[in-house]
Amino acid sequence: MAASLAIINCSQVVTLAGPARPRVGAELRQLSVIEDGALFVRNQRIEQVGKRSDIERSVDETCDVIDAGGRVVLPGFVDAHTHPVFAGTRAGEFEERSQGATYQEIAARGGGIQSTVRATRNATLEELVAAGKRYSQWFLRNGTTTVEAKSGYGLTLEDELKLLRAIKQLDQETPLRYVSTFLGAHDIPPEYKSRREEYVSLLINEMLPRVAEEKLAEYCDVFCEAKVFTVDESRQILSSARSHGLGLRVHADQLSLSGGAELAAELRAVTADHLEYADIRGIGALKSANVQSVFLPGSVYALGSNRYPPAREMIDAGLAIVIATDFNPGSSPTPSIPMVLSIAATQMKLSPAEGITAATINASYSLGRGDVIGSLEKGKMADFVIHDCEDYREIPYFFGMEHPWQVYAGGQLAFALQEKLATDLRG
Ligand code: NIG
Ligand code: FE
Repeated sequence: MAASLAIINCSQVVTLAGPARPRVGAELRQLSVIEDGALFVRNQRIEQVGKRSDIERSVDETCDVIDAGGRVVLPGFVDAHTHPVFAGTRAGEFEERSQGATYQEIAARGGGIQSTVRATRNATLEELVAAGKRYSQWFLRNGTTTVEAKSGYGLTLEDELKLLRAIKQLDQETPLRYVSTFLGAHDIPPEYKSRREEYVSLLINEMLPRVAEEKLAEYCDVFCEAKVFTVDESRQILSSARSHGLGLRVHADQLSLSGGAELAAELRAVTADHLEYADIRGIGALKSANVQSVFLPGSVYALGSNRYPPAREMIDAGLAIVIATDFNPGSSPTPSIPMVLSIAATQMKLSPAEGITAATINASYSLGRGDVIGSLEKGKMADFVIHDCEDYREIPYFFGMEHPWQVYAGGQLAFALQEKLATDLRG
């Protein structure tokens, strides 16, 4: 491979260049697009972004040149909330929900998260890594180059460690970048149902110290919900995580208004995620504590609900919004950021530009990586995607399809579309 790479003939290079912090308010619409732009990459990093004529001056015979054919280039999407390591699927529950059963009813009879926990406990590390590799390709071919990845389908010390080790291995063995989050507080496991305080102590006294000691996670998350972990339990777990040096994220106010947003603010969490039921007080608390709000419209859509988070109120309040897939086998089985941008546009009235900012630069800041990924600026990692369209607005507009033509992570090709018509295949 040549040491340098130039991408030329791009209808638009959507750079997201701007202030070195997450974008808010009107800034969310400012994508810093360069028409007829180009990129120059050296040693895995972006060396120059500009007009085609400027970049062509840097090209010499040692440089690989990719003609983007008038397509659009964006930073790789940064998916800041996923649950990508699990065994099995829940296609049967999906069918039941299509016939009227609710997510909560299925969970109450031991399905839902618990059914994935049973399958995941029975799986080996190797099996989980193999399934995870398949999903890593799904993310890449939808234009995502970094995912935040939660554990949470083990719920015993050994099974949670197994999931975090799988995430570490996936980070090392696939082109996708993984940022890991410990979610041992995803549910109370069935064997602790009648003694939940013992599970909270197990999390605090055994699991968190071990996860921190082995440096297996950067963040800790809790599913804070009336019927899962109460605000008090969530506070205990997250405070302990913080004392071990982990950053905090919270599943907050997803299925009911349960005080999750205010808890996230009180604990100065990095993000509060979901927020479908968040109210004005919660939004105000998030703003005053500088917590980023993460929207997961794929889960609202897939649960057949129409209760989307109050996005415009949050933007108007000045929150640095993020959009992510929530990829998981239950509430949101999609790895596609373009799909969630489409839902965000039609159901939450976010403009394509606001959605793209939320799924790139703002998401990278929510993972503590705003200085290395999330925009196409000199010195950042060369994580970028050539989408097969002329205008970035086509990404959420043509929905239910994969747009990427080529995907690069650290300047290396990680996915390329095979353009084969049936006539070619028949030879
Ligand atoms: O973010 N809310 C909790 N956790 C996931 C669902 C996980 C599952 O259903 O397996 C979520 O929606
Ligand atoms: Fe989630």
